[in-house]
Amino acid sequence: MKLFLDTADIDEIRTAVRWGVIDGVTTNPSLYARVGGSYDDVLREICKLTPGPVSAEVIADDVEGMLAEGRHFAKLAPNIVVKVAMSENGLEAISRFAEEGIKTNCTLIFSANQGLLAAKAGASLLSPFVGRLDDINEEGMTVIRELADIINLHDFDSEVLAASVRHPRHVTDAALAGAHVATLPFKVLRQMVHHPLTDSGIVQFKADWAKARAEVAAKG
Ligand code: E4P
Repeated sequence: MKLFLDTADIDEIRTAVRWGVIDGVTTNPSLYARVGGSYDDVLREICKLTPGPVSAEVIADDVEGMLAEGRHFAKLAPNIVVKVAMSENGLEAISRFAEEGIKTNCTLIFSANQGLLAAKAGASLLSPFVGRLDDINEEGMTVIRELADIINLHDFDSEVLAASVRHPRHVTDAALAGAHVATLPFKVLRQMVHHPLTDSGIVQFKADWAKARAEVAAKG
């Protein structure tokens, strides 16, 4: 299973890449708004730091506008994946990008049927939003499970990317539900590293080591 970082923050990406656990990055207009500056420059820098795919989201809602923005992003770096929101025009743009060999991530997916359509149109990544479904009292993980089953059963090339991840349990559940990828806020990635027993265990080992060395030194 691949893990992406869901951020446009360069420092967070640098840290996670150093840990050796990050396969790609997803950005969106809201994440970009938190860092500001030139979106192109931010994307170029993320693409340099990141080994795998970096999603850049188009804003236009007409097909030609989406194509123009996506072609521009695709020229910035070889690992750009153009992110397109699920819609009638979005599907058309995804299928045109597929013809041109430009990879896409279909975003704002909230049902297995939307994911199926995006796969049919040729999207490389299908992004169901788990947290936003949970927020409205629906079962976000059900969409991940159903879509992963459909993709595997019918041998689609697309990968299911669990998005809108809010806490570490979402990551475990997405992995068990068959998601090929989960994209995580840095906070969730950091929460995954830690466990109170790990952290207290490290403190205890260090204290015991220091005590034992002090005793050895005292004996001469
Ligand atoms: C990722 O591609 C999505 O844009 C992101 O996970 C959305 O998360 P949110 O629902 O926390 O905004």
